[in-house]
Amino acid sequence: MTEYRLTVLPGDGTGKEVMAEAMRVLSVFEKNSPISFNITEIPCGGEYYLETGREWPKGSFEHCRDNSDAILLGAIGWPGARLPNGDLAGGQVILGLRSGLNLYANVRPVKLFQGVKHKVHGIHKDIWDPNLVDMVMVRENTEGLYHSLLRRMSQKAIGEKDDPMVIEKFPGLDGEVAWDTRPISRIGSERVIKFAFDLAEHRRKKLGKPQKVTCVDKSNVTRGCQLFRKIFHEIAEEKYPEIEINEAYIDAFTMWLMRDPESLDVVVLPNMFGDIATDLASVLQGGMGMAGSANLGPKHMLFEPVHGSSPKHAGNNTVNPMATLSSLQMMFEALGFRKNDTDLDKCADILMQAMEEHFAEGGCVTYDLGGDASTSDVGEAIAERCEKLLKEAF
Ligand code: IPM
Ligand code: MN
Repeated sequence: MTEYRLTVLPGDGTGKEVMAEAMRVLSVFEKNSPISFNITEIPCGGEYYLETGREWPKGSFEHCRDNSDAILLGAIGWPGARLPNGDLAGGQVILGLRSGLNLYANVRPVKLFQGVKHKVHGIHKDIWDPNLVDMVMVRENTEGLYHSLLRRMSQKAIGEKDDPMVIEKFPGLDGEVAWDTRPISRIGSERVIKFAFDLAEHRRKKLGKPQKVTCVDKSNVTRGCQLFRKIFHEIAEEKYPEIEINEAYIDAFTMWLMRDPESLDVVVLPNMFGDIATDLASVLQGGMGMAGSANLGPKHMLFEPVHGSSPKHAGNNTVNPMATLSSLQMMFEALGFRKNDTDLDKCADILMQAMEEHFAEGGCVTYDLGGDASTSDVGEAIAERCEKLLKEAF
């Protein structure tokens, strides 16, 4: 039995509350199955910065890099928490890790569970059909519009000198100008696009139905997107003749996403478009409270809910922990795959089954899904279901 090293970064605001539920559920898995984790919890984020003047304790980046099989992150961001140069305080944690650990594929599944009422029409509606909303967005995670911020953050995280390129004055323009370059590289695009096609292959085998990869960009206007799309076609033709391809400009895509979600399987997008489209897409699965994610690189993996720290709800035990529990589920799945650990695979299936059955059988839900359960009520309900299923399985 392997003991995996898990680094837990609860972060800011409600990140801490949803992380507590993930730990509750994880401990049920540890007690009732062979899987085992050596957990190191590290305080971090904007609130921590306001209290201590640091975004996380010294050596935290190195711990994540050298002593972690997986990292679980709550949420980063706190009102008024800015570094002296104006950057997001806590950015070193989330962006520093994405860039510094080469977590180039940001995998964000968008799936509507049976029994979850989404709110596309302003009311909680139950319109489930298994094929209606079941896609995965793959967001490029290391370059594009985030490039300069990511670079500054990872240099700081790794302890190099600050990047002097913070705000530059555009020659020939008067007044104050702030600008972010948006480099998109061949290497950066190839690896994430290949990842998206491999994921489509994996889904084709697992779900037993044909898969399509949609490339979303703005190649009618920007050079970076032209390169991204060119590489998309190269890879599709060279390596994946079995997989259907599709392409869309981001503006029209947002409309198709809402209108015809059933037409989407795997979607690959440059960084900032992926950031925006995944928040929008979460509405189709019941909202941000349901959206989990994985940040995957060649050697490291970090899992986090797509939502932020929601300061206005912090401390109230009211937000939905499902996004973080889904992220935990993705951790079991990805770690099981990478380490070839069938116990972890089994645990991934059990946690998924517990979540699916919870909603399908009308289990308690938080306010965002039209219920009045608390964060811990939902965490406890899932933990109980997992315990039952684990006792049958192991
Ligand atoms: C996300 C978040 C982050 C991002 C923020 C907190 C820096 O919005 O994970 O989607 O912009 O990537
Ligand atoms: Mn975002």
